[in-house]
Amino acid sequence: MSLVAVEERNIIGHILFSDLLIETQRTVLHAVSLAPTAVLPDHQRQGIGSALVRRGLAVCRERGKSIVVVLGHPAYYRRFGFPAELSKNLGGPYAGDAWMALELIPGALAGVKGTAGPRRDRWSSGGAAEEITS
Ligand SMILES: CC(C)(COP(=O)(O)OP(=O)(O)OC[C@H]1O[C@@H](n2cnc3c(N)ncnc32)[C@H](O)[C@@H]1OP(=O)(O)O)[C@@H](O)C(=O)NCCC(=O)NCCS
Repeated sequence: MSLVAVEERNIIGHILFSDLLIETQRTVLHAVSLAPTAVLPDHQRQGIGSALVRRGLAVCRERGKSIVVVLGHPAYYRRFGFPAELSKNLGGPYAGDAWMALELIPGALAGVKGTAGPRRDRWSSGGAAEEITS
């Protein structure tokens, strides 16, 4: 899912959410990966990035998604409720401080220990982006 921020018909910000699988010893969980978020330099620090993240998380909730994982600046994403502790048990190529997870359904990551990776069968270049007007 892509969201764009639009001002006077120009795209000034974008966020992408992709399908992600968390493989545990017993099962495979469906999660969402948040990346990237980008706002044009001369439109930064006006709340556009935050609006994209908040709206994106709200749409994920509306669609019944339970887990969102992000690789990003910890100081930035913590403000949206991404606690680093929740991703501790999620291995993968990016594991570390910048690897954070958020439960959209409380308890979705409780007891989960596994490896996160992209859902390759769903990669696609198609699909229209939803617009947020700034
Ligand atoms: C990160 C980014 C999307 C934020 O967009 P934005 O519209 O400027 O964000 P907002 O206006 O909603 O929030 C600004 C706040 O985020 C903080 N922030 C911005 N980039 C940050 C970073 N890399 N690390 C920590 N905090 C950051 C600002 O200091 C500001 O803090 P304040 O509210 O306390 O003043 C934007 O700076 C950007 O496009 N950066 C380049 C691409 C990038 O690094 N994307 C992130 C990939 S994970």
